[in-house]
Amino acid sequence: MITRGGPGGDVLVAADAAEHAALAAELMARAIHGAVEERGVARLALSGGSTPAEAYRRLAALDLPWARTEWFWVDERAVPPDSPRSNYRAASADLALGDGRVPPAAVHRLEADAPDLEAAAARCEGVLRRTFGVAAAVSFDVMTLGIGEDGHTASLFPGTGAVAIDDRLVAAIPEQPGSKLEARLTLTAPVIHEAQLVVVLCRGESKRAIVAAARQAGAEEEVPARTIRRVKGRAIWLLDREAAGDLKRR
Ligand code: 6PG
Repeated sequence: MITRGGPGGDVLVAADAAEHAALAAELMARAIHGAVEERGVARLALSGGSTPAEAYRRLAALDLPWARTEWFWVDERAVPPDSPRSNYRAASADLALGDGRVPPAAVHRLEADAPDLEAAAARCEGVLRRTFGVAAAVSFDVMTLGIGEDGHTASLFPGTGAVAIDDRLVAAIPEQPGSKLEARLTLTAPVIHEAQLVVVLCRGESKRAIVAAARQAGAEEEVPARTIRRVKGRAIWLLDREAAGDLKRR
């Protein structure tokens, strides 16, 4: 049951990892069917990380209008597309995007392995503007987001100013000094805000505190995932019981 969650977004609590993945796939599938019925195409932006993997695998098993879907990424690490660290590699495998159901031209990798990350960001922005129309909002039908324990979402890390970037669609995020984080390419907060549906995928006790902090008003620079509160479409926080804590089914 989805709990109406107010400005923080709706909350859906899964009983376990299997239900979490099944519900995520169902939410994504419904949005894909709806977008294709309404406009003939469904455009998705995928986050990486570990949580979405099973959801993507379950989605891959569903009967969808695959030929009418277009796939983008929310962010990407500065690694080659065949790297085990690549979000493109992981999601393409989990969704079986290379099995012929989706036209190769409909899969749009963020080229975070390019030598000039700023130029790559500009190219990726150009793809978005050509895809959605120069004068139209870049409004994904479905966007999956995760949250790091530090409060980041996408590759908008706290204390970097990235969540405040609002003059471009795709940003180059330099390697974070003193951290293990590679340089990245990421969609910016304004693109997150324009999404029709954002599915926030969080599981585990370790995310409970940051989920609660992200759903509360406060400085986005401190907890960049708070930017999800400004999603113009619908945000559904798909949690397991451990991550939900007090955000139980009401
Ligand atoms: C990435 C992701 C990132 C991820 C969070 C949560 O490139 O790592 O896009 O934003 O969603 O770090 O990751 P987990 O699902 O592994 O906790």
